[in-house]
Amino acid sequence: MKKLWGGRFNDKNSDITEKLSVSVHYDKRLYRQDIRGSIVHSEMLNKIGILSDEELGKIINGLNEIQMEIENNSFDFEDRLEDVHMNIESRLTDKIGYAGKKMHTGRSRNDQIALDTRLYLKDECCEIDKHLVRLIRSLMDLAEKNKYVILPGYTHMQVAQPVRFSHHMLAYCWQLVRDRRRLDFARNSSDYSPIGVGALAGVNYGNDRHFMQQKLEFGNITQNSMDTVSDRDYMLDFLYFASVLGTHLSRFCEELVLWSSSQFDFIRLSDKVTTGSSIMPQKKNPDLAEIIRGKTGRLNGNLVSLLTVLKGLPMTYNRDLQEDKESLFDSVDTVLLSLEGMIEMMKDITVKKDKMRDAVYSNFSTATDLADYLSQKGVPFREAHEIIGTIVGDCEKNNIDFFKMKFSDFQKYSEVFQEDVLDYVNPESSTDRKISFGGTSIYDIDRQLEELRKLL
Ligand code: ARG
Repeated sequence: MKKLWGGRFNDKNSDITEKLSVSVHYDKRLYRQDIRGSIVHSEMLNKIGILSDEELGKIINGLNEIQMEIENNSFDFEDRLEDVHMNIESRLTDKIGYAGKKMHTGRSRNDQIALDTRLYLKDECCEIDKHLVRLIRSLMDLAEKNKYVILPGYTHMQVAQPVRFSHHMLAYCWQLVRDRRRLDFARNSSDYSPIGVGALAGVNYGNDRHFMQQKLEFGNITQNSMDTVSDRDYMLDFLYFASVLGTHLSRFCEELVLWSSSQFDFIRLSDKVTTGSSIMPQKKNPDLAEIIRGKTGRLNGNLVSLLTVLKGLPMTYNRDLQEDKESLFDSVDTVLLSLEGMIEMMKDITVKKDKMRDAVYSNFSTATDLADYLSQKGVPFREAHEIIGTIVGDCEKNNIDFFKMKFSDFQKYSEVFQEDVLDYVNPESSTDRKISFGGTSIYDIDRQLEELRKLL
């Protein structure tokens, strides 16, 4: 059977050419956007006098029927028709004849695919944003429920200073707030109407691009036909967002894996999100966290893949661009799956308050508080640092429990110490002394929760 573009060809394509050309097995996912675009394009053609009202009516009915056929699985996508555009157009012509053949007037698959992917990405960005908001909410809930719980804060993976569990959860919320900003940026990059520029140069018809922009609810319109068909920046923006989000989730998952290990034992992940071992009966593995952590690999791969496809492409449309979609779809799917997984894990997480609190009584976690204590009483900070360092050294040497030291023990090191020093050794009270903006005091945690609520 002849191709829709087959006019000037005598020989048929070899099998391998057909095999490499075909994209319908993945771009059929764009059928709704493609049909929506074709309807608006046809309405525009009617408006500028190229299609009669009757032809327009037939086209719209035909396209709506095709959409129904696709949705009730009675549409047969054919590889020989290459892509989603030609599958739908060919079916339309089968159904309505002559009017169907007129639909492609004043457009090209080059602007058509730019339209489909832009519409698709705008929708998916909204869907992903909803998931992000749900995840942020669940972390905020977890923070509220465990507001006062303390645990060690780490630097270099060494116990550093006591922090509140809620503060720790909110740290992840702020990461995700930035992810939402990057997502919004990607959505805005997609929000430019490309339709009506033709193959690359513009068209010999008075295509009313602004009419189509309005009908398709694009906030903006592209300015240059050549740029329009070669641009994939909006996809790169999305893939970059996805990579950074993946990196954030991966770091979070790493912490969940560590925290649920028997060494830390800070949390318990529910049976719904963990799996057993086929050989070791006692095992309960944090597979979901590990899988989400691992998904970062493909998200980064998809970004690098499209960057590499685009590198070195001359203006304007080149068929290499067909290689953009699988990376895009995969990142969209992966992000949605990962976010759902995170939400599920957060749902039934058990916070082991006592274990977290116990862990704070290690590695001299309040030593900095003691240095501050002396410095607030007039000892220069460097000197205070030195005195506390000596105490820590002596504790280590003589196997003394820092947290059980008495007032009289402290007095040996400096007469500045008063009885209230014991309060400064206590990790529980340490957190609420972090009165600086953005610190781990309850006062600031409430402030952060308030700020976050305003953003959601
Ligand atoms: N399937 C192609 C793509 O995804 C459609 C665009 C135009 N194709 C062409 N041969 N000019 O990019």
